[in-house]
Amino acid sequence: MQISFSRKTKMFRLDTQNSTYAMMIGHGGELRHLYYGASIADDDITAFAHRRDRAFSPYPEGLTSEESLNIACLEYSTFGNGDFHNTAAALRKQNGTAVTSAVYKTHTITKGKAPLPGLPASFAPEKQVQTLEITLTDTFSGALIVLRYSIFDDSDVIARSVKIVNKSKETIRIEKLMSAQLDFDSMQYDMVYLQGKWARERHAMRTPLQPGMQGFRSARGSSGHQYNPGVVLASKNATEQQGEVYGMLLLYSGSYAVEVEADEYESTRAMIGINRETFSWTLEKGAEFNSPEALIMFSANGFSGLSAQSHAFLTDHVIRSPWKHVKRPILVNNWEATYFDFTDSKIYDLAKSASKLGIEMLVLDDGWFGERNGDNSSLGDWFVNKKKVGDLGRLVARINKLGMKFGLWFEPEMISEISELYKTHPEWVLSVPGGKRSLGRNQMVLDMSRGEVVDYLFEAIAGILRSANIEYIKWDMNRNLTEIHSSALPPEQQGEVAHRYVLGVYELHERLLNEFPNLLIEGCSGGGGRFDAGMLYYVPQIWCSDDTDAIERVSIQLGTSLFYPSATMGAHVSVCPNHQTHRSVSFQFRGDVALAGTFGYELDVTRLDKEDQQMIREQVARYHKYNDLIREGTFHRITEGFGHGDIAAWCWVSADRKEALVTAVRKFDSPCAQSPVFRLRIPGLDAARKYTIENGGAFHGSTLMNAGINVSNDLRGNAVSALYHLKAK
Ligand code: DGJ
Repeated sequence: MQISFSRKTKMFRLDTQNSTYAMMIGHGGELRHLYYGASIADDDITAFAHRRDRAFSPYPEGLTSEESLNIACLEYSTFGNGDFHNTAAALRKQNGTAVTSAVYKTHTITKGKAPLPGLPASFAPEKQVQTLEITLTDTFSGALIVLRYSIFDDSDVIARSVKIVNKSKETIRIEKLMSAQLDFDSMQYDMVYLQGKWARERHAMRTPLQPGMQGFRSARGSSGHQYNPGVVLASKNATEQQGEVYGMLLLYSGSYAVEVEADEYESTRAMIGINRETFSWTLEKGAEFNSPEALIMFSANGFSGLSAQSHAFLTDHVIRSPWKHVKRPILVNNWEATYFDFTDSKIYDLAKSASKLGIEMLVLDDGWFGERNGDNSSLGDWFVNKKKVGDLGRLVARINKLGMKFGLWFEPEMISEISELYKTHPEWVLSVPGGKRSLGRNQMVLDMSRGEVVDYLFEAIAGILRSANIEYIKWDMNRNLTEIHSSALPPEQQGEVAHRYVLGVYELHERLLNEFPNLLIEGCSGGGGRFDAGMLYYVPQIWCSDDTDAIERVSIQLGTSLFYPSATMGAHVSVCPNHQTHRSVSFQFRGDVALAGTFGYELDVTRLDKEDQQMIREQVARYHKYNDLIREGTFHRITEGFGHGDIAAWCWVSADRKEALVTAVRKFDSPCAQSPVFRLRIPGLDAARKYTIENGGAFHGSTLMNAGINVSNDLRGNAVSALYHLKAK
């Protein structure tokens, strides 16, 4: 790991374990992007900045037409001064112009990495990380644009963020500020991204870049079910194990944009950051603003190579929960068992039956507070409904006596019109004065940009947590933001509300974790509607989807694995017929798919027949046997297509490569569907070692990696699965 700058060539280079990232200061002070890819040896590649000029490409005074910003690969392009592409930053001045320049002023290279105030950010001990800060000046205002890059000694991921320091003599308005830009000399890439909807989150899509703008975004105030704040640009020949692949991932849970533009000269610009549609920021003289952090990554080893990097980085440098390396308690959640219809004795019975099966935690979901017996009331009233659950402390103590932990559901950011909180604080709702409000699931959204709202929620939630031995909370969010307006802010700051909302959510997490550092929090938003790396800074796991149908879960979980580790994915076995798809599949298949996540149950364990009870006991034993490997091992998708095909397979390989677990599933069978021999080649093993497959012979790593194992007899029928446990001496 090394960051260097050559005074002679004015070239910066960032060398990670396997990649080089290079840029240089041009003659006009503009920062030109030179190279990003597999490691290179030479210190001077500034020739990459030399370009043939092109018509209709203006150039700054003092530079030549070959130096036009419109034909350059730029590091961070600003609005209105000769680069006609989509640009990364626009600062509006008092004279009305948003034209912004970015001219080199100074730079520093230091050990360590400072946190980002109020925002999630990657971290590492000081000696394991280096940071480059390049300060550029907007010559139209004097404001400083500080580009930050951090590299880590154990990773190829580069963390980037941007800071604006208003050194001008006036107030300026930030109208756009992307967290990272990546320019490419070619458009020969496919864009891979995660697309979905409620109950069908994060299905991986792959589409060739087209000339023009493409991308996706959220304007929902949260990252959303529809797209995930990350993108991959892959070489045309990239597969799971081969090919050059670039990734960008945002540590942010609010409205964001991924903007990719391929131009008439077949160059590409990719950017990621806050969505400007719901953002502007008034920056007083002397004030600073930090963008969220973006991670950029490169792998020469295909999609699985990139995913492995992302998983390791998120685990080591983003997720801060002490739970990240700990086997999570196997939980049973009462939601699909009871919905709102429960009493303390029903919850206790669930816990009692669960404890006999080896389940370790009871999670009490929605409906325990206020007068909540349906989804039309009581959000915000975070006090126990004694009629339903009696004394919460007593219930928890009884459940603890069974040897079970206890977890509780909250939806902190919401308020019901029918609630005590709304009677007292109608002004705490996000809404435009005099205008109609939109409802979602009968509820409204609290104005998390207000300090007193965060204070109230902290005291209310902390009060409940102090009152009983609650070791886990599920933090839900069941609608998106509309009428984004705060009655606490002046007109010129209304563009800040959406971002301030996210900062308020982060602050609430921060304060709760300060008081309850060992609390296990599972993120959730109507399933996986806020599954992002920003959230993972605070919570080590997120409920993947309200769709618990195991067939559907294959593509949801494999899509999610593009960036996110198995140990972050909330995955449970639920009852059949499934409540979302009305489909029935075997208990074993449901268990094998849920094993690829945090693992738990979402069904009425008091009503199971003997056979299903026995299945749970076996699945619990399997979880204990394999979870260390699943949580800590390197994950590979074996089949192509991110789970979209009928057969999908994936595996985890231990760090010493002596152990692996392979899961293969078939969703739907058809006559003569595959070749009579269906071979799965197992990646990541040690070629020279001999592996014993539990119940299935012994083979060298070279055979397993190159020739594979024949699974055709094990995958017959619909919704079938097989596990192969490989061990070497
Ligand atoms: C949506 C979640 O995804 C479900 O698991 C459940 O907690 C409900 N909300 C409760 O309202």
